[in-house]
Amino acid sequence: MRRMVAETRLDPADLILPAFVREGVAEPVPIGAMPGVVQHTRDTLRKAAVEALEAGVSGIMLFGVPEDARKDGLGTAGTDPDGILQVAIRDVRAEVGDELVIMSDLCLDEYTDHGHCGVLDEDGRVDNDATLERYAEMAQVQADAGVHVVGPSGMMDGQVGVVRDALDTIGKEDVSILAYTAKYSSAFYGPFREAVGSSLQGDRKTYQQDPANLRESMRELALDLEEGADMVMVKPAGPYLDVLAEVARTVDVPVAAYQISGEYAMVEAAAEKGWIDRDKAIMETLTGIRRAGAQMILTYWATEVAQKLSAGRR
Ligand code: PBG
Repeated sequence: MRRMVAETRLDPADLILPAFVREGVAEPVPIGAMPGVVQHTRDTLRKAAVEALEAGVSGIMLFGVPEDARKDGLGTAGTDPDGILQVAIRDVRAEVGDELVIMSDLCLDEYTDHGHCGVLDEDGRVDNDATLERYAEMAQVQADAGVHVVGPSGMMDGQVGVVRDALDTIGKEDVSILAYTAKYSSAFYGPFREAVGSSLQGDRKTYQQDPANLRESMRELALDLEEGADMVMVKPAGPYLDVLAEVARTVDVPVAAYQISGEYAMVEAAAEKGWIDRDKAIMETLTGIRRAGAQMILTYWATEVAQKLSAGRR
């Protein structure tokens, strides 16, 4: 009866798997603060993509982790056609074709030696407009590599419009933009910074949003849509369900939510201590995010949950 009258259902197709691929490793490298998640080799990434596809997951969001020696002030590894992310996009596209939606993180933080999402000016501040030029180039190399959807996550003003123009200029009108519309400056990104070997000192408060603000997110939303966003995202998910609900009520484009590394780590850590029921907690978090209005959910549990859903377990 409960199943019959349930107002919210989860389907494997709602899920998108974020995945890390690391340059120059022969074996996958475990991420300490994210038990069960690894930095993939090129080869294991291809396998993870196939596994996700077979489980019914609809998309994969790729993050590149370059060798430390390749990081520099401009994040040039992020625009090198042979950079790790571009290579990984080609690998996955060759493996799964159009069966799985291939998405890529469009941001410089994985490639800069200072760890910021943009390039810096003489005073060491993130230079918004100089960064936009880097993002334009990045969008083009990712599109050339065969990505279906780019995810600009650096939170520079005007990034969606610049990326749209850059893509259209090279005839990639069919590459979509998943806009990180409301991306909050969050403590819950902690484990991700280990996952991408981030060099960041300090914080991202000058370009990510203040957790105290909702109206500001709605303004960002209007701007992103005006600039050509095809889908919009709220991130993190759990602590921002009100923002998600408000965004979902307002727009007529698909809405995504990103259940981030810290949200993952909290459940895994508490479960490891025997303090909560892991599987029930995972389903509850995802159901809550779905109920709040996310059509798509990026979650590190995507493949596992999709397999369970397909097997009729919940
Ligand atoms: C920036 C980016 C971040 C995440 C996704 N894209 C980190 C940040 O803004 O510091 C975080 C994802 C997660 O925590 O799971 N490239």
